[in-house]
Amino acid sequence: MKRNYLFCLGILFLFLGFTTKKETPLSPKEIFINDLITKMTLEEKIGQMVLFTSDWDVTGPTLRTTYLDDIREGKAGAVFNAYTVEYTRKLQKIAVEETRLGIPLLFGYDVIHGHRTIFPIPIAESCSWDINAMENSARIAASEASAEGINWTFAPMVDITRDPRWGRVAEGSGEDVYLGSLIAAARVKGFQGSDLSKNNTIVACAKHFAAYGAAHGGRDYNTVDVSEISLRETYLPPFKACVDAGVGTFMTAFNDVNGVPASANNFLLQNILREEWNFKGFVVTDYTSINEMINHGFAANEKNAGELSLNAGVDMDMQGAVFYNFLKQSVEDGKVTISTINNAVKNILGIKYDLGLFEDPYRYCNPEREKTEIMTAENLLAAREMAQKSIVLLKNENALLPLDKKGTIALIGPLANDQRNLIGNWSAAGDWKTAVSVFAGVTNATEGKTNILYSKGANIIEDKILLKKLNDNGGNIEIDTRTPDQMIKDAVEIANKSDVVVMILGESQGMSGEAASRSVIGIPENQMDLLKAILKTGKPIVLVLMNGRPLTLTWENENIPAIVETWFAGTEAGNAIADILFGDVNPSGKLTMSFPQSVGQIPVYYNMKKTGRPFDPNSKYNSKYLDVENTPLYAFGYGLSYTTFEYSNLKLSSEVLKKDKTITVSVDLKNSGVRDGVEITQLYITDKVASITRPVKELQGFNKMFLKAGESKVVTFTISTSHLSFYGSEGKLIYESGEFDIQVGGNSETGLKKSFVLE
Ligand code: NOJ
Repeated sequence: MKRNYLFCLGILFLFLGFTTKKETPLSPKEIFINDLITKMTLEEKIGQMVLFTSDWDVTGPTLRTTYLDDIREGKAGAVFNAYTVEYTRKLQKIAVEETRLGIPLLFGYDVIHGHRTIFPIPIAESCSWDINAMENSARIAASEASAEGINWTFAPMVDITRDPRWGRVAEGSGEDVYLGSLIAAARVKGFQGSDLSKNNTIVACAKHFAAYGAAHGGRDYNTVDVSEISLRETYLPPFKACVDAGVGTFMTAFNDVNGVPASANNFLLQNILREEWNFKGFVVTDYTSINEMINHGFAANEKNAGELSLNAGVDMDMQGAVFYNFLKQSVEDGKVTISTINNAVKNILGIKYDLGLFEDPYRYCNPEREKTEIMTAENLLAAREMAQKSIVLLKNENALLPLDKKGTIALIGPLANDQRNLIGNWSAAGDWKTAVSVFAGVTNATEGKTNILYSKGANIIEDKILLKKLNDNGGNIEIDTRTPDQMIKDAVEIANKSDVVVMILGESQGMSGEAASRSVIGIPENQMDLLKAILKTGKPIVLVLMNGRPLTLTWENENIPAIVETWFAGTEAGNAIADILFGDVNPSGKLTMSFPQSVGQIPVYYNMKKTGRPFDPNSKYNSKYLDVENTPLYAFGYGLSYTTFEYSNLKLSSEVLKKDKTITVSVDLKNSGVRDGVEITQLYITDKVASITRPVKELQGFNKMFLKAGESKVVTFTISTSHLSFYGSEGKLIYESGEFDIQVGGNSETGLKKSFVLE
């Protein structure tokens, strides 16, 4: 009887399962793609998994004949480094009209911080802590790029990094996971908008998956060896934030992670990305990273590398031609299955479908938009405002800044009248000749009321070997024919005639970015010689820095009264810098990466783990250096204003947090100076005792608020268990009862403190 009953129940479930399955209708997208896949030959499927770069020459984009043939033969489903309506339309026409199935191409490009209107480099933007503004900056970049045929950006780069030697810190959002995750999601939303099929939205790509920022020694492409806990806690959250924001594509990293190259990493691509996060888009490799697995000593040959990659979860091969050359053979050899290939193709076609390319392959090739929607006054204004918000005032002794628009100002330094470097290293289709130099910006701002003198004073670098390397990589560093001594002499002469000297020094754009790691991260020596010579004139000096990474500035901090970090601030750099120098805009940026006192301190970041022997200058056997303190020169979250802010009256709504409840933190914030200003208030939490050792503190909230001079407002934060959770030994997010400290203030080092207990 019991058996019969179970049997009937089983039949009923089977029937229900069957009907449910049958009754769940396939979406029009699934029907379309399934149908298309049934029509495709194996060669055509493999073609969809191939991404090639176009070829460029000085007069504009050209395509190698083989690529044209590849598109025509259905052997390349995506192209990158191709833009303009005319050019992309030409290629799309070949794909649509000359291939058997007419599947449209994807057009990818590194639209990292603007397309034609160039915004500040990403690390700079992150210093604004203005999530909406960063979303808007990505929105504008997408709208300009899509007006020129592009429908896929290789951004955002969401690699957390704690090593300023690594050149690619310029492309990221700094050292913090909480802030980095918010920025990552905002950028995805900005690029993709709410509807990918609109003609002004493009598909984003979360890169470089994963832990690329943890390269040993800050050396690009180097090995990564991190524990699973640290991977989950530090390096993965910004990627997860991208998935939650609906990102369409992922790019694998060049590095290996714990012994397995990221481009064949099952754990990352299957367990985490597909299974845990349920990612539905497609995965592209970084440039030839499949082929590089031979160098890693992980694959015997290219065919083998392609098999490892595909089987681990890669869908598209960027530029390596491995899938192109070997995948068919791999199927025939039984090394990869048709169903794995079908899955990859489905993922890729799904994105093409979402972009609306099957409906209208020329959706992103609108000549009208190309004429009217690029570098508009509105876009340039947004870039200028973003640059203003990104600038960080590091020092301002005796309120030397802001400057008066009168008397004589000397602008000295290799970056004072420079345009090329302002748009940074990943400047997409940006034309540096449209960038506003500091000289032009200061001239605009002073409207003839101030006498402006200029002298270059030094080349960016004198080191001939480095110079050659940078120029071979398109650095365009112009070298003055005067001797370094003569240049300094000429600059000193100008300085002597001025009331104040603004020195614009730093790196060239090519000294950060990909393949641009440095072992010494100060201002180049010859520029330091210039700075020291000008200091001797006794004139007040404002040091304006341009650079793509935190620099070591210990001497500068000790000797120069005012220091302004402007990074590479984009097309409107000069105007925005002038806005800050003259106080038309009050600086409000705060650092998102610690500036070390010396290279030997690296990695130095605010949320380090606690040690068993915390720093104590008065005892010997604890965790420290003999020659430098543990603290950075300028900490995460630090940045000054022309006004001052005071914090008081820190309150908690309760000293006990129940698990499913929240508590409110409030603090009084007063603008105690004489100028209106914006303050970024930061909330840090410390888990005092946990089953896994926890950082000394972690950012868990921030608030950006404008206050008129003399005005006070209450800033509030809400804390729940989501702010207290961490990855436990099982690799799962957990929280534990106990005591937590909070710190609320204007940077990571100081603030008002209270404690509460999680029950
Ligand atoms: C290599 C870089 O690592 C990646 O970030 C970029 O998107 C590709 N090249 C394509 O340019």
